[in-house]
Amino acid sequence: MTFFPARGPKRVRPDLNSLVATGKTPDQEGLPVPLATPPAPHLTRTRAAVTATGLWRAYGSGEAQVVALRDVSVEFASGAFTAIMGPSGSGKSTLMHCLAGLDTTDRGTVNIGDATITGLGDKALTRLRRDKIGFIFQQFNLLPTLTAEENIQLPASIAGAKADPEWLRRVIDTLDLRDRLTHKPTELSGGQQQRVACARALATRPEVVFADEPTGNLDTRSSGEVLRFLRKSVDDFGQTIVMVTHDPSAAAYADRVVFLADGQIVHDLREPTADTVIDTMRGFENRVPLAGEAR
Ligand SMILES: Nc1ncnc2c1ncn2[C@@H]1O[C@H](COP(=O)(O)OP(=O)(O)OP(=O)(O)O)[C@@H](O)[C@H]1O
Ligand SMILES: [Mg+2]
Repeated sequence: MTFFPARGPKRVRPDLNSLVATGKTPDQEGLPVPLATPPAPHLTRTRAAVTATGLWRAYGSGEAQVVALRDVSVEFASGAFTAIMGPSGSGKSTLMHCLAGLDTTDRGTVNIGDATITGLGDKALTRLRRDKIGFIFQQFNLLPTLTAEENIQLPASIAGAKADPEWLRRVIDTLDLRDRLTHKPTELSGGQQQRVACARALATRPEVVFADEPTGNLDTRSSGEVLRFLRKSVDDFGQTIVMVTHDPSAAAYADRVVFLADGQIVHDLREPTADTVIDTMRGFENRVPLAGEAR
């Protein structure tokens, strides 16, 4: 099924992530001056699906300037489930948007697999996002005029392709969406809508799925369904997932939790449990600020 008829082979079609993005306006003003020695890069030995090196991102200028990311370097291993946690305003969404090419960085580089996305032109970036990145938003961001199935097929349709039917069947069955495929988003519960958004993100088997508070609008039961699916997609399909969450029990589904505070990575926890996540968060309440960081 085609939703965006191709007008010629050279035309770059819009990508899903830019269609449904949250609409942050990149502001290139006010390059921040490095203030602190960066913490040791959080590197892993396995192949990295995503690598960020020395990322800086500031919004506004002068006294009103907010430095959302301060020299962030981090790797996300392929086939792993990583959670990102931190207080409100600590830069989690900014990091996620910079990693996914939905926001620009002031300095630093982002690689998705072998491809460097920072510095790419619009067309190349659109193509790379479409081919390599899936995004799940807190607000689901399904297109209201399309059925669940059409929403799921949208990324492949935009690419002028059809998702692998066998793969799609597996994803739809795992998410228990088979009997909801002909419904429009308004005819679905919040949990069902987010499961459709999960299927949409995985339909093209992207190199990485970014999820920004995917369970933020869901009740406990629906949250569990979405989180179990994300976990299963890592364990059974080798998917790479990076998820922002405020919920320690959601973070416990991940293999690793990266903690941000004031735009810097302040802790890296492996094999988290809800208890170790809560203990780590408590530890920050009394921590000494990093050099150059506002208290
Ligand atoms: N487009 C923007 N213009 C100006 N400031 C921004 C913009 N986007 C983010 N910021 C600021 O950057 C900082 C980091 O914001 P970000 O959205 O990344 O935080 P967050 O950790 O995702 O918070 P939350 O948990 O509330 O979602 C905040 O101080 C925020 O106000
Ligand atoms: Mg956020």
